This record gives sequence, structure tokens and C-alpha cells, in this order.
Amino acid sequence: QNYLEKYRPQYHFSPASNWMNDPNGMVFYIGEYHLFYQYHPNGTTWGPMHWGHAVSKDLVHWEHLPIGLAPDENGMIFSGSAVVDWNDSSGFFDGKSGLVAIFTHADTYPDSNHPRQRQSIAFSKDNGRTWTKYVGNPVLQEESIIDFRDPKVFWHRDTNRWVMVLAAGQTIRIYTSKNLTSWEFASEFGEGHGSHDGVWECPDLFQLPVDGDDNQKKWVLFVSIGDDPSLQEGSRTQYFIGNFDGNSFVNDSSQETILWIDHGRDNYAGVSWSDVPAEDGRRIYIGWMSNWRYANVTPTKEWRSAMTIPRVIALKTTEEGVRLVQNPIRELQGLRVENISIRNEVVVPGVNLLSNVNSNTFEIIAEFEMSSATEFGFKVCKGRKEETIIGYDVKNKNFFVDRTNSGEASFHDSFAGKHDSNLISQKMIKFHIFVDRSSIELFGNDGESVITDLIFPNEENKQMELFVKNGEVKLHSLELYILKSIWR
Ligand code: FRU
Repeated sequence: QNYLEKYRPQYHFSPASNWMNDPNGMVFYIGEYHLFYQYHPNGTTWGPMHWGHAVSKDLVHWEHLPIGLAPDENGMIFSGSAVVDWNDSSGFFDGKSGLVAIFTHADTYPDSNHPRQRQSIAFSKDNGRTWTKYVGNPVLQEESIIDFRDPKVFWHRDTNRWVMVLAAGQTIRIYTSKNLTSWEFASEFGEGHGSHDGVWECPDLFQLPVDGDDNQKKWVLFVSIGDDPSLQEGSRTQYFIGNFDGNSFVNDSSQETILWIDHGRDNYAGVSWSDVPAEDGRRIYIGWMSNWRYANVTPTKEWRSAMTIPRVIALKTTEEGVRLVQNPIRELQGLRVENISIRNEVVVPGVNLLSNVNSNTFEIIAEFEMSSATEFGFKVCKGRKEETIIGYDVKNKNFFVDRTNSGEASFHDSFAGKHDSNLISQKMIKFHIFVDRSSIELFGNDGESVITDLIFPNEENKQMELFVKNGEVKLHSLELYILKSIWR
């Protein structure tokens, strides 16, 4: 296993072989970040779901471990979360601490073939290496709700109990528990709020300081929305900002407001790590870097799908109000091997300051001051007749990724295209870009604008260009780092 197959990401997590979708059960415990994931161990398309498992000490280098949870008499193992039960509230750990996974068992009703989704738990006394399913499974069921899945659980200090957010049709239901085994309904959120373009999935709920101020905190609710054929975008993730008192979530924005965590097509079902130590203080999340629209037919052979890079999320006051910002985890800096540095240049059409660079696994941090140009940015993974454009559009005041001519796209007619971000109207425009053979992640203006897109270019496409259109732009600084593989 050398991770050198065509399109294989070099510094993103992907399974050694076969199909992966959502990240699951992310928890930090005794020096290790656990990452479980929706996994089909016997095929490269979606199938009977298991929880694959990997661990990392730095969120960058991953060690694959044997499958964590496999289907059983209660059904397949759909998405869910994991927590550290520090005080043995469950009674599973003889007074010590241990890991509890909370997930959806998915099967069909015995007397019909209608789907049935129920919540179950499992525990591990050996740091996640082996798991025992609770004898009382399922621990939560509601006969009348068909789509009823993806429990995310956290400890709510003020009310001294566990809270579960669960996707139910097109709302989020909130349940509470003292012991992780018996759950009580608390409230429901979502009717009339945000986007209802598809079924709601994979919620997460957590508190963050606004502008780094611990005296001013807000709650953030993530909700992924499944693919609906009537939409252009396929599956994507929205978020709400508001308050949570241990019982119910109250949205700060008007009902019609829709906030997307990402303006590309390939960041879905993302949720955050549980139990990151307080002295670290970060809220870190990862998403599945694909889209249900075409996830099953992307042109890879041995495996299918990767995760995004892990990202730190925060809340920032912007012109439009408090908004989510995302930035790459600093641990990724350890992958930098070669560096190209440019300072104070005026970029003009026809001169490519990056004509000597060849790579398809790299990071760019560049800051521009707007001048007369109408558009500027980077063309990456260039060669033959292919290129992917990562730019800023001055007139429309947004970042964009254009993968129209990025490479292989014939596997689905909605793959090729250009994706625009939200509005960014500052004078200084900052790109932070990660390219890893078959993916683009753009963090515009310190993470206020994020675009995550897959691409499938020719392997030889390693040229790049710093381009400007219809005028000039001032480049304050540019750092380009070639990044090394995490697998070798
Ligand atoms: C989201 C999702 C979840 C479900 C899982 C099944 O991508 O549809 O709602 O638990 O995938 O693999």
C-alpha cells in the first residue's frame, strides 16, 4: 500500500481501500484523535455500512485500525458520535472512564420492507480498539419517524446531563440523558428555519466564543442536507447560530436566513471532535469530501472518497453579522518541505510569477491589494488543455473555484462548473489554498469564504500560474509550500 494510485490524496485521510462516506465517532482520548467513518469494506460504492477506524496523534498522520463496528441483528451501522464517559455515568467502566459510541442502527421493519432507524450504543474499555454493543439496544426509537438518524452527543455542564441532537425528517430533535442508556425527548428545532431542500442529516451542536471573547458565547448548529434531484448543488451543509439552554435551540437569525459552511460542492456531513482538551480549546471538524450527487461514480478505482483537511472553526463578527470562519489546523505546517516566497510585486497580465513551479500537492498563502484588475488568482493542476482556476472576482466581490476544465468530468453531468463564494468586500484579499492531486480547498480572507471542490486532472498536470485579468493587482506576499505525503 503506497498511496500512489491515480488521484490518491497525499495528505488527506482516505481509506486504504473501498468506499467511505461520513466521518463518525470523532473523539479525543488519552493522546489519540479517533476517526471512525461510514465504510463499506467489500466494495467501492455505498453498501452495508460499518464504522471504519483510524487514530492519529496529530490529526495529520493516521494509522488504520480494524473495523470498529460491524452490522448485526439490529442492522447496519449508520453515522453517529462518540464521547468519553469520564465519570462512568453509564456504569460500563467500573468507576473509571471509557469511550461510548452512539450511532444509528438501520434495518427494515420485520413485517414490511420499510426502512427503520433506531439509536444504539456501544462501549470500549481499551481505547477504542474493541467495542461491545449494549445489550439493551436500541436505546431510542420513534416508530413514526422514517428518517431518524445520526446522533451527536455531548455533555452539557450547566444541566449536568448528556444531550443528543438527532436528525428527524427535516427537523432536529433534541434528547437528554443521565446515563447514555435512557433518553428523554426535550425539544425540536427547524420547521420553517433555513434550507429544507432535502432530508436533514448529521447534526452537531456546540458552543463557541464570538471574536475569541469567552464572555460572549454562541451556540452553533450544523445540519447537513441530503441530495435532492431538483437541486443544482447536491448535498451540502448549513449552519445556524443561536442559543441553547440545555433543552432547546433558539435561532438568532430570521427564519429565511440560510448559512452554508462551504461554497464548493464537496464538503458534506462534517461534524466536530468531542473531548478536545480544554487547554487546547479548539473546536476541530472534518467533512466528507464528496457529494451524494456523484459520490458513487467518481473516477477512482481502489478506494472512493477522502475527508477534508481538519479545520478549526470559530465565530467572527462580519459586516453581515456573526458568521462561522474555518481555517486549516496548524499541525499541517509540519508537512511543508520546499518554500517559494514572493514579496511586493505588481502582477500584470502575461507574466507568470509561478512559471517555474511544478507540483500538485501544495499550499499557497497569498495576500493581494486590489488595483485595476477585474479578476486575479491562481490556475493550478495545469497541463494539456486542463486547469482549475481559484480566483477572486472584483466586480462580484467573491472568491470562486472553476473546475469546468479541470480534467475528467464525464462521470456525471453536474460535476463540471464554477462555484462562487459569499461576498467579501475588503480591499485586501487573502487566499489560503490547499491542493492535493484531486482536491482544492480555498480558505478566503482568513476563513470567511470557504470552497472545497474535487477535481480529477491528468496526473502530469503540475504547472501553475498566478494570473490577473484586465489590469493589475498588487501582491503583498506569497508563500508557496510543497507538502509531503503523510503515508510514506
Ligand atoms: C449522510 C448519511 C447519513 C447516514 C449515512 C449512511 O451522508 O446519509 O444520514 O447515517 O450517510 O451511510
